[in-house]
Amino acid sequence: MKDFLIAPSILSADFARLGEDTVKALQAGGDVVHFDVMDNHYVPNLTMGPNICQSLHKYLRDAGIDKPIDVHLMAMPVDSLIPQFAQAGATYITFHPEASLHVDRSLQLIKEHGCKAGLVFTPATPLSYLDYVMDKLDVILLMSVNPGFGGQSFIPSTLDKLRQVRQRIDASGYAIRLEIDGGVKVDNIGEIAAAGADMFVAGSAIFGQPDYRAVIDKMRSELAKATHA
Ligand code: DX5
Ligand code: ZN
Repeated sequence: MKDFLIAPSILSADFARLGEDTVKALQAGGDVVHFDVMDNHYVPNLTMGPNICQSLHKYLRDAGIDKPIDVHLMAMPVDSLIPQFAQAGATYITFHPEASLHVDRSLQLIKEHGCKAGLVFTPATPLSYLDYVMDKLDVILLMSVNPGFGGQSFIPSTLDKLRQVRQRIDASGYAIRLEIDGGVKVDNIGEIAAAGADMFVAGSAIFGQPDYRAVIDKMRSELAKATHA
C-alpha cells in the first residue's frame, strides 16, 4: 500500500487532558499530531500557541513517542511564529499564503529552522500560489472546510482540486506530501485518497468516537481498498 499518513487533529481532543488524549490517538495508530493554531484574527477562533506545543512535545518524548507534530498556522503575521514553533518541537509548519506578505520568505524561514514547510489552501484559495514555489515545499495542505472549526462537512469541490494538485506534484518530480484537512471520515477517506491525497487530518472523526483504534483501523482498510481499486 502507498505510504499514507493519518494525522489526528487534537483540536477535537479533550483539552483538559491534552497529553493523555494525544498519546491515546497515537497509540491507536495515528502517525502525526495535527496541531491547529488559531488567533481570532485570521480565523474566528482561538486555540493553542508555542508553549502548549512545547509541553506536548516533551510529554510525547517522555512517553517514548517519537511521532511528528504538524503545526497548521491559521494566524497572522506568520513569520514571528515560525521560530517559536520550530523551537517548540514542530516537524511540519504550514501556513496560509493570504496570511503572509512574502510567501517565499516565510517558506525559506521554515526551512532555515529545520522544519518541513507547507502552504495551505482554503476552499477558495487559487492554486496559482504554487506556481513559483514547488521547490520549497514538503507538503501542500488542501482544506476541505473553511478554517476555524472542527466538525464541519467536507466540501466536495475539493476532490477536483486534489486531482489538480496531484498532477502538479507528479509533474514537478518533487517528493511533496498532499495533505487534506476538514470533514475527513471513514466513509469518504477512500475517494479522497483516490483523488490523490496521501496525508489525512481527522479531528472529530477520531476524537468523537470512544474507540480511536477502531476508527483508524477502518480508515486504513478504506485506504487499502481505494488503492487496490
Ligand atoms: C479546521 C482545522 C482542522 C480541524 C478538522 O480549521 O484546520 O484541522 O480540526 O476537524 P474535522 O476533522 O473535525 O473536520
Ligand atoms: Zn488543521
